[in-house]
Amino acid sequence: MFSRFSPILNHINQKDFQFVYEPSEDSFLLCEGIEKNINFIKEEIKPTICLEIGTGTGFVTCFVNKLFEENKVSCFYITTDINHKAAKIANETFKLNCVEPKETIITDLIEGFESRLKNSIDLLLFNPPYVPTDPSEKIGIDPLDQNSLLSSSWAGGKNGMEVTQIVLDKLDFLLSPNGCCFIVALEENQPEIIAKNLFFKGFRTAVVKKKEIEDEKLYILKIYRK
Ligand SMILES: C[S@@+](CC[C@H](N)C(=O)[O-])C[C@H]1O[C@@H](n2cnc3c(N)ncnc32)[C@H](O)[C@@H]1O
Repeated sequence: MFSRFSPILNHINQKDFQFVYEPSEDSFLLCEGIEKNINFIKEEIKPTICLEIGTGTGFVTCFVNKLFEENKVSCFYITTDINHKAAKIANETFKLNCVEPKETIITDLIEGFESRLKNSIDLLLFNPPYVPTDPSEKIGIDPLDQNSLLSSSWAGGKNGMEVTQIVLDKLDFLLSPNGCCFIVALEENQPEIIAKNLFFKGFRTAVVKKKEIEDEKLYILKIYRK
């Protein structure tokens, strides 16, 4: 993806991508979905706090920073990742590109500071581990297995929804009254069921981007209160 908002990533080498998710079509589609909604974000959400869960290299938050700067949206950014190598690289990305935040929080989703975020997130971004995996395959990080640093970025358990669902269940708690969430989903995650379930919890879901890449159908969902 080349856009004037794309961050410089030349501090990262191929070896790093053995342990940290390399920005890919899903990351780019998420950025495109956010960019497409810049007027909605600026006029309806008026964000002051943006949280990206699972920031990886920091590509998306960095992109959003640059997009917002050009559109005169001033925001406080929070990023988390369960992978300590990703957090280190993301911090370097932010520094190199002269954007906030300074420090990515290494944690499982938002564990440890969740209660401080009650109804305060204006923009929640998440490109989750969405690939359906067999119950025998572990999701998350196994401290004894280096390979799990990378597999935790895609292994999503049943229907690929095990991690995503935890975040969706927290939306009502986390989002501010005008808050909005942009999330990546795969066809196998059943976006229409995601939307139906969220509807009963008081949210609208719109597909803002859709792309078929090889055998994957990717969706960018925008979720906001009714
Ligand atoms: C598909 S990658 C997306 C990375 C980056 N946001 C992007 O779009 O390029 C998913 C990211 O979520 C992180 N992750 C997976 N499970 C997590 C969890 N429980 N808590 C926080 N981060 C998690 C992974 O380490 C990985 O960096």
